[in-house]
Amino acid sequence: MRARAPVLAGLLSLAAQTGRADPTWPAATDHMEEIVYQLQGFRGSLFNDIITPCDNEAAGPGRITASEWLRVGFHDMAPHNKYFGTNGVDGSLQFELNDGENTGPGHATTLKFLANYLSSRSSLADLIAAGVYASVRSCGGPVVPLRLGRVDATEGGNGVPQPQNSIGTFISQFDRMGFNATEMIQLVACGHTLGSVHSPEFPEIVPAATGQISFDSSNAVYDNKVVTEYVAGNTTNPLVVGASIAVGRNSDGRIFGSDGNVTIRAMADPTVYRNTCQALLQRMIEVVPAGVTLTPDPIAPYAVKPVGMQLTLNDGAATLLLSGYIRVRTTELPASSITNVVLTWKDRNGGNSCGSSATCSVTATLQGVANGFDDTFGFFPIQATIPVASGISSFTLVLNFNDGTSKSYDNNGNSYPMSDAVILQKPQSCLLQGSGALTVSALVRNDIVGLPVNLGVSYLVPRNTTDGNPVPALTQANITMTAGDCVGQYTFYTASFTIYGGLSYNARLSVTAGSGATAYSDDFIKASDLSGTCGTFSGSATCANVTVSSTSSLPTSTTSSSTSVSATTTTTTTSSTAAPTPTIKTNVGGYVFVSCWTEGTGVRALSEASFAYDSMTLESCMANCTGFDYWATEYGRECYCGNSLASSSAQAPNGDCSMLCAGDPSEFCGAGNRLELYSTTATRTTSATPTPTATLAVKPTVGDYVFVGCQTEATSQRALSEKTYADDSMTLESCAAFCAGFTYFGTEYGRECE
Ligand SMILES: *[C@@H]1O[C@H](CO)[C@@H](O)[C@H](O)[C@H]1NC(C)=O
Ligand SMILES: *[C@@H]1O[C@H](CO)[C@@H](O)[C@H](O)[C@H]1NC(C)=O
Ligand SMILES: *[C@@H]1O[C@H](CO)[C@@H](O)[C@H](O)[C@H]1NC(C)=O
Ligand SMILES: *[C@@H]1O[C@H](CO)[C@@H](O)[C@H](O)[C@H]1NC(C)=O
Ligand SMILES: *[C@@H]1O[C@H](CO)[C@@H](O)[C@H](O)[C@H]1NC(C)=O
Ligand SMILES: *[C@@H]1O[C@H](CO)[C@@H](O)[C@H](O)[C@H]1NC(C)=O
Ligand SMILES: *[C@@H]1O[C@H](CO)[C@@H](O)[C@H](O)[C@H]1NC(C)=O
Repeated sequence: MRARAPVLAGLLSLAAQTGRADPTWPAATDHMEEIVYQLQGFRGSLFNDIITPCDNEAAGPGRITASEWLRVGFHDMAPHNKYFGTNGVDGSLQFELNDGENTGPGHATTLKFLANYLSSRSSLADLIAAGVYASVRSCGGPVVPLRLGRVDATEGGNGVPQPQNSIGTFISQFDRMGFNATEMIQLVACGHTLGSVHSPEFPEIVPAATGQISFDSSNAVYDNKVVTEYVAGNTTNPLVVGASIAVGRNSDGRIFGSDGNVTIRAMADPTVYRNTCQALLQRMIEVVPAGVTLTPDPIAPYAVKPVGMQLTLNDGAATLLLSGYIRVRTTELPASSITNVVLTWKDRNGGNSCGSSATCSVTATLQGVANGFDDTFGFFPIQATIPVASGISSFTLVLNFNDGTSKSYDNNGNSYPMSDAVILQKPQSCLLQGSGALTVSALVRNDIVGLPVNLGVSYLVPRNTTDGNPVPALTQANITMTAGDCVGQYTFYTASFTIYGGLSYNARLSVTAGSGATAYSDDFIKASDLSGTCGTFSGSATCANVTVSSTSSLPTSTTSSSTSVSATTTTTTTSSTAAPTPTIKTNVGGYVFVSCWTEGTGVRALSEASFAYDSMTLESCMANCTGFDYWATEYGRECYCGNSLASSSAQAPNGDCSMLCAGDPSEFCGAGNRLELYSTTATRTTSATPTPTATLAVKPTVGDYVFVGCQTEATSQRALSEKTYADDSMTLESCAAFCAGFTYFGTEYGRECE
């Protein structure tokens, strides 16, 4: 990085100010978060390269690039019409460069730089808004909160105020943009602290011999001198004094003085200026067309974030490599105080099986550091070898510190998801950057083979240069992939495509099996990560079927008559000798399975009796709990009994209960913090027996029917299409009676039966 930007004292980054938790990963804003905060150093985006330091003149002498970025934000917003809900920060400036309102080279050079970052997850409009944040911050100004989700326009607008406009025209133009007469003064004062007015664009204002004239005496510092020098009467602002007066183009003078200098004088206080500009510039970049919804919260850097996580099938098809980085924000906590980061993964079915290793975990130590304007980060590289037989579904993280303490991160209680269902296999994929010839190989897990598999290529195509638009068009191609060899539990799919050559390195690749609710994908992979030649996959493995527990695997078809009734789990391969296939037992003695269930908060879900031993089975737990209404097994070897459930315990997906019973591997005995819960079928009288406090539960059986699971409707037709009715007194029993004779029945939306 070049010299660090001046950073005024007393500033904390947004995350530190708000103390907000990390978003749940992955978030739609993750890519922009890296562009904006992970600026320089290891995996740096270099987004601030041409605006840092603040006085950098990337587009030529006298042209302060940071001021041009800030100006692009205003010019893109300015056509907004709040009455019609049209325009706003929408990237339409790319189509407006020749319309006379947007003179000078600064807009085109700014847009050209920002376009390097254009992708399906970073619109030009969001990049323009990020450019406002970055330019102001690079010059020592406030952190402008950055909400995201802007959508790019496909045509231009107009309405940028011009220096010769009357004050009445200015007031009505700013009103149309959503700013009243006070805010107009503030916004102009917040914009005209950086940069200069240039003779080529405004010869009536700046004589050719002069070249350019600055708005204030510190034109490369985000400070309020544009205000204080105006108030003191010694300003050099060419839109207040000098040649502009005679030709009626002294627009800043007219605007600042329009309320008798009341607003501008208040901004002579540096704190008032800073706070006002932080709020007004946020408002400016949040002016968007009607129908565009920005994220509720501004982005902030994650405390801990997985970046570039990728699965690859190793040669021989016996193991997967999980690679990537855990990025730790080290702003308040030096990277040197972190001993290591431990990543612990869950197998494909949410359990802890990972072959011969005792623990499914890897340890990473610091490899590189990066920084943004206000933050520093350490990167901990992950290289985990995962047996294909057990696979991966998620992971959690622990940071260990030199002082012996540690901190766990579980993605806000969700674990960090990592699916092994579809993998873009980089070693067997390649891109010739010159010609744009692309070949992509993907691996699809055999339990979902049969879903259509598509390669999505999102790439940039230059516009017709005669239009003068420097921003390429974001283009999407969708190519059907063809099935090839089966290797163990995966099947290869391939597709070829020719990307427009010149910008092929900027393309992003996604492989998707299925669509809608049943889509599995490996997304947003940089084409530039691929090598020029496709490697061959060496080592073969017998093609094997895969069975995945219901929570880890979405149904491939809700109408299929072969939909498995039991929530089976674990991975079985046809080549291995048959181990007993564990299933959920719906009935044990006189008890029925209720569901997988969580422990209570600070209290056991079932608290009246407990047992733990290594020969645990469902039957032995039931015997231990004789006389109780409920019993449950947990963590493979624990058993709990009770007549009521703690109110803070709750139903959990059946697949969470993924641990086998220590004394019988054909049965499930819950998991960590998960109870395999059974309930008596004996009729209870509320006077004699406490009513369960956690009341609503899935009924495992209704008449002769057993509960299959919660299923989605089919796409454009009913999942169950033979017979339907709807009624406000709908019960499972009445629907079962209506559907007597059919293999399946289902209830939906509280009052529908099919
Ligand atoms: C503009 O709006 C602000 C905030 O609502 C208000 O304080 C100010 O008085 C308004 N100015 C005018 C001229 O209406
Ligand atoms: C403008 O005048 C103020 C007040 O007299 C003074 O402090 C400041 O240094 C002057 N600025 C310039 C650029 O002359
Ligand atoms: C506002 O300030 C400017 C610059 O100091 C001055 O020329 C002008 O007379 C002031 N206007 C009023 C109404 O005070
Ligand atoms: C580019 O635009 C010009 C003018 O609009 C048109 O004449 C020309 O055919 C276009 N070229 C291409 C390659 O589309
Ligand atoms: C890609 O094409 C396939 C088949 O034509 C279709 O099912 C799928 O929805 C498309 N995907 C996208 C992202 O357009
Ligand atoms: C995989 O399962 C399918 C459907 O149950 C079966 O037809 C096929 O023979 C199995 N394949 C192997 C290799 O066992
Ligand atoms: C609980 O069951 C185990 C296994 O059958 C048995 O060894 C133990 O004695 C039982 N404990 C009680 C108190 O019933």
